Amino acid sequence: MQIELKTPIGNTEILTQEDGLQQAKDWIDKNYPDRRIAVVTDSNVDRIYHEQLTKVFRDAMLHVVKAGEESKNLGEIEHLVDKLGEEGFDRNDVITGFGGGMITDLAGFAAASYKRGIKGLTLIPTSLLAMVDAAIGGKTGVNVRAKNDCGAFRPADHILLDPKFLNTLPEREFNAGMAEVIKYAATLDVSLAEDLMKERGEMDLKAILQKSAQAKVNIVQQDVKEGGLRQVLNFGHTFGHAVEKKSDYKLLHGEAVSIGIIYANKIAQKLGKQKPETGEQIKKLLERFKLPTELPEGMTIDDLHEYIVQDKKKSGKEITFIIAPEMGKWEMVKKTPEELVKLAR
Ligand SMILES: NC(=O)c1ccc[n+]([C@@H]2O[C@H](COP(=O)([O-])OP(=O)(O)OC[C@H]3O[C@@H](n4cnc5c(N)ncnc54)[C@H](O)[C@@H]3O)[C@@H](O)[C@H]2O)c1
Repeated sequence: MQIELKTPIGNTEILTQEDGLQQAKDWIDKNYPDRRIAVVTDSNVDRIYHEQLTKVFRDAMLHVVKAGEESKNLGEIEHLVDKLGEEGFDRNDVITGFGGGMITDLAGFAAASYKRGIKGLTLIPTSLLAMVDAAIGGKTGVNVRAKNDCGAFRPADHILLDPKFLNTLPEREFNAGMAEVIKYAATLDVSLAEDLMKERGEMDLKAILQKSAQAKVNIVQQDVKEGGLRQVLNFGHTFGHAVEKKSDYKLLHGEAVSIGIIYANKIAQKLGKQKPETGEQIKKLLERFKLPTELPEGMTIDDLHEYIVQDKKKSGKEITFIIAPEMGKWEMVKKTPEELVKLAR
């Protein structure tokens, strides 16, 4: 099945297929015949897929970045731009990101900036988080003083989702990615909740990837530059980001979002906008994927206040807080950080 994302700043074709590397290469050959390709990947993904990768992308320039969020920085962009220049890449060539969200963000930002924007950007996400979230929607960037504080909007032309790559993803990373899928289930697509209740062996990952991608596309399509509606995707993220920062990034993003979702439910219930059964159903989904549903030991809700205030500073107003009144539905409520922390206590 093909999903299309059409935005004023570019269109993306999203395909879910096995044999992902070959499929992605065939797409590039068809759409960018005779163009040079630079494949950007990380050291973990390269270690596992090097043989396959170099067999399929035989003539491509391979650029391997050390795995880990620390590599999502401007220095790595400089290395990559330097290598592209040295190898004579021009503006009509193609950058392909093959990896998790760190790589799709880095490759995307390089594509947005190399010679003021290279023509081709294709992504082959390999982590669940990148497949259902990071690769889709055109947000790219690196970390300078804070996470993602330097970047650009640059949607990929083509994204290839191959569930087979998830077979090598560490379980903790897989489960963390599921927090974003549960976010879509809770706010945008109730049918995903049913898919997620199946046993792991019986779960139709392909359908889960497609439904998640479609949920994100439906929102991004209406608000690519985060003017308003895209904030729906922040469900669980107000408290999630605060928990993630307070844990000094020891918790994975999805683990922190899981806790954030629990607080979004608690707040919705205190406001009389969510039945306890809905909260329970969402919690059950989080628990299925061994995601945390309580603050880590030693962390209190009041510890999160200063980080939630930082969130408010970003918009300069009250926080637009997303709740799920019932499974698959969302609502925005405006609250100050103080009100949110009080409701979450
Ligand atoms: N642009 C966006 O809209 C957006 C949205 C959400 C997150 N992000 C960004 O995404 C990043 C997080 O993404 P992530 O969780 O994928 O992190 P990541 O890219 O660091 O990948 C997590 C780990 O999994 C490994 N890995 C990836 N795929 C693998 C595979 N198939 N087999 C074995 N190991 C594999 C990686 O090497 C890494 O160690 C953050 O930088 C975040 O800011 C961006």
